[in-house]
Amino acid sequence: MSILPFTLTLFSLVFLASSVLPASVVNPTLPHDAFTASKRFEGSSELVNLRYHMGPVLSSPINIYLIWYGKWLPAQKLLIKDFLLSISTTKRRAASAPSVSDWWKTVTLYTDQTNANISSEILIAGEYSDRKYTHGTHLTRLTMQDVIATSVQSAPFTVDHKNGVYLILTSDDVTVQDFCRAVCGFHYFTFPSKVGYTLPYAWVGNSGKQCPEVCAYPFAVPGYMGNGGPRSLAPPNGDVGVDGMISVIGHELAELASNPLVNAWYAGEDPTAPTEIGDLCEGLYGSGGGGGYIGQVMKDGSGRTFNMNGRRSRKFLVQWIWSPVLKACAGPNALD
Ligand SMILES: *[C@@H]1O[C@H](CO)[C@@H](O)[C@H](O)[C@H]1NC(C)=O
Repeated sequence: MSILPFTLTLFSLVFLASSVLPASVVNPTLPHDAFTASKRFEGSSELVNLRYHMGPVLSSPINIYLIWYGKWLPAQKLLIKDFLLSISTTKRRAASAPSVSDWWKTVTLYTDQTNANISSEILIAGEYSDRKYTHGTHLTRLTMQDVIATSVQSAPFTVDHKNGVYLILTSDDVTVQDFCRAVCGFHYFTFPSKVGYTLPYAWVGNSGKQCPEVCAYPFAVPGYMGNGGPRSLAPPNGDVGVDGMISVIGHELAELASNPLVNAWYAGEDPTAPTEIGDLCEGLYGSGGGGGYIGQVMKDGSGRTFNMNGRRSRKFLVQWIWSPVLKACAGPNALD
């Protein structure tokens, strides 16, 4: 449902740059104990009871409406938009493998009861900026819906109840109910009494100032790991908070697409606390990962860590997604 703070089970990350590729493969070593924890999900499908509950998935082209809440720099907006626009790709501007659009292919494996797959077409249909913090510098799960209500009342930002999903991004000075303590982002749908319609939406916050070691892990690590412990990894675009948001946005978008009204794809019997296709692979970015070990990722010439390429030569580090076909977590940078 919501992306939870990274569970801090790792001990040491030692990097072995291991190849002659311009972007070298790095292999943070795995603490022995972590093998037990990694059994939790990866390759252990009997523990995962992911089921389809007959509700809709986002099978028509997905129109994202971005709501920038608070103060955002143009460069930060561009980075997030480049990630979103890297998901669907035309041949002309396809990124080299492993790519963001390959990453989304795992998501498109999910279907609804008519056998319609989740769409691979994603576009940014509109943007709305609220630099005045109209609903305050602290938001709750309920006032989040007021933020959407205010934005859809403003032309030309519209209520798109056919293909629209709303993505609220809060700047690093905005506090949100449960942010940092229990969640880094969440998705849900709006209520007609608040917004006038039932619209799927997600929220992700910039944790850069509030809790990067929780929500922008592994670009920041907790203080207690300090001396002799794992060192943080260099973010691919030089912005710990926003690079950290990218993976959370990917997680929430994958879940929004496969469980937009919280009655489609999830594991567990409790729809108020569903385990969804992103939750199952949280903290996992490469082959061999799990249990606090992020898996094998890549490093560019300047030492920045990433696991996939996007448009305009961008690089991103995004968590893997549960594949209904492999019955395991999958990502475009898998070794096999
Ligand atoms: C649609 O989903 C089915 C079932 O997972 C899969 O076999 C097929 O490859 C998917 N098609 C696309 C275009 O992703």
